[in-house]
Amino acid sequence: MPKLTIDGKEIEAPAGTNLIQAAASAGIEIPHYCYHPALSVVGNCRMCLVEVEKTPKPQIACNTAVAEGMVVHTKSDRAKAAQRAVLEFLLINHPIDCPVCDQAGECKLQDYYMDYDRQPSRFPLASKNHKGKAIEIGSGVMLDQERCILCARCTRFFDEITHSGELAIFERGDQNKIDVWPGRKVENKYAGNAVDICPVGALTEKDFRFRMRVWYLHRTPSVCGGCERGCAIGIHHHSGRIYRIKPRYNPEVNSYWMCDEGRHGFAALQSETRLTTPLFQSDGRLVPESWEAAIGRAASRITEAKAAGARSIGAVAGAQSTNEEVFALKRLISATIGSDRIAGLSFTPAGLSGDDDLLIRANKNPNTRGLSAMGLSEAGLEPLERSIAAAELKILIVLRADLVRALGEAEFSRRFGALDFMIVLNTDANETCQMANQVLPIAAYPELVGSFTNFKGRVQRLRRAFDAPGHALPAIEVLGKLAEAITGAKSPNDAEAVFTAMAACEGPFSGLTLASLGAHGAQLAE
Ligand code: SF4
Ligand code: SF4
Ligand code: FES
Repeated sequence: MPKLTIDGKEIEAPAGTNLIQAAASAGIEIPHYCYHPALSVVGNCRMCLVEVEKTPKPQIACNTAVAEGMVVHTKSDRAKAAQRAVLEFLLINHPIDCPVCDQAGECKLQDYYMDYDRQPSRFPLASKNHKGKAIEIGSGVMLDQERCILCARCTRFFDEITHSGELAIFERGDQNKIDVWPGRKVENKYAGNAVDICPVGALTEKDFRFRMRVWYLHRTPSVCGGCERGCAIGIHHHSGRIYRIKPRYNPEVNSYWMCDEGRHGFAALQSETRLTTPLFQSDGRLVPESWEAAIGRAASRITEAKAAGARSIGAVAGAQSTNEEVFALKRLISATIGSDRIAGLSFTPAGLSGDDDLLIRANKNPNTRGLSAMGLSEAGLEPLERSIAAAELKILIVLRADLVRALGEAEFSRRFGALDFMIVLNTDANETCQMANQVLPIAAYPELVGSFTNFKGRVQRLRRAFDAPGHALPAIEVLGKLAEAITGAKSPNDAEAVFTAMAACEGPFSGLTLASLGAHGAQLAE
């Protein structure tokens, strides 16, 4: 590996590494706009100019590979003069409308001006060129041509990643501007990524604009629950509400990207139909009750049925459940109750997008692989139905599985209608809840600690961004309360403990712990 010196620090970096990456590995920032690690190098912004000894002029760090013996200065007078000159040039026609710009707080023009420039403008405001502002270019993306620094990150994203090529740079010189091709709109399923990588306030998300100043947002790393890809995400939230979701880099899953369906899917997680209190069916309506009463009733129905035969109790786990939830349900059914009647359900409603060659998967469940790693699938539904028909199965516990929507109401009634008692654990008042005897409200994935296993067997960690609404609780806590009420014995029901127990019992998870998953997750042992 070549050895070089950057700002007096001796560094080793693999051959082919550019100076921005090499400096970053040593904790040295080289400012840059157009360079993005997942896109081709175009070297057009010149913000990354550094002084390389024995070269006549400052060099662009993004297109200069490390070499043995190279000596680089990023903070010398020559480098600083180049950085200031580039910023002055980039800002010549900038409208300086930062107070009303939604990028404020995460704009690289603001940041670099403060860090590398800080000189008053020599260009009068009245002489600046004006271009288009607040243009809706499609897919919920707004364009402000005046704020654009023409780094061509967005055009390269649409050319190189989605291959849809909607945007281009038009005109010449100081009339240069980003625009859609005549007659076209940015209409593709990944458009939000162009907003993410725009380093300034030129591209903004229509839905997010002016809803929240970014410095008020907390960022919690998590995993998208929108499909079986399980893209790594950051949940940006404030006071228990999600304002936006951004992709988080995971080279094993989604690189730097996510789809717009996943990005905007959070509305359903904070809808009016969220369940916030336990409910029981009384005279044809669901009536609120306390957790104590709900757990008491469910446990006594299970205990009574168990006395007549443990196999009179069964369960269905939906593939929206976390690994820990599936395991906790399986443990309740087998270890606590002594039954073996449990199935999985991985249901995707019709009319949603199918597999593509970038990220999107037709299976809209984040944990189908987690279910199958624990031996659960829809193949288990038929034996459940047969045992209901034979009047053997009396009580069914349904976890995050909308059986009524998956089967249709008539078919559900035909196959499951003979049950004595149905307990449903869910986040929303879905159609299956309406048919339940007991409804237990549980936390959605941004509100809990746990993990999903994606379709390639990558186990990734979910962290709690904020608490579940109302009286809703994490499902593993509810299942733990139920087990405790049935047996009278306490057992640890936090996600770490349940994961550890799962890794001990379920072969594919052996050797893993929740804490060891890290930012990029870990691979199932199968
Ligand atoms: S719109 Fe943003 S990403 Fe596109 S060229 Fe302009 S500054 Fe760069
Ligand atoms: S591809 Fe799937 S997991 Fe990734 S962001 Fe889209 S919906 Fe979410
Ligand atoms: S980042 Fe190097 S020229 Fe733009």
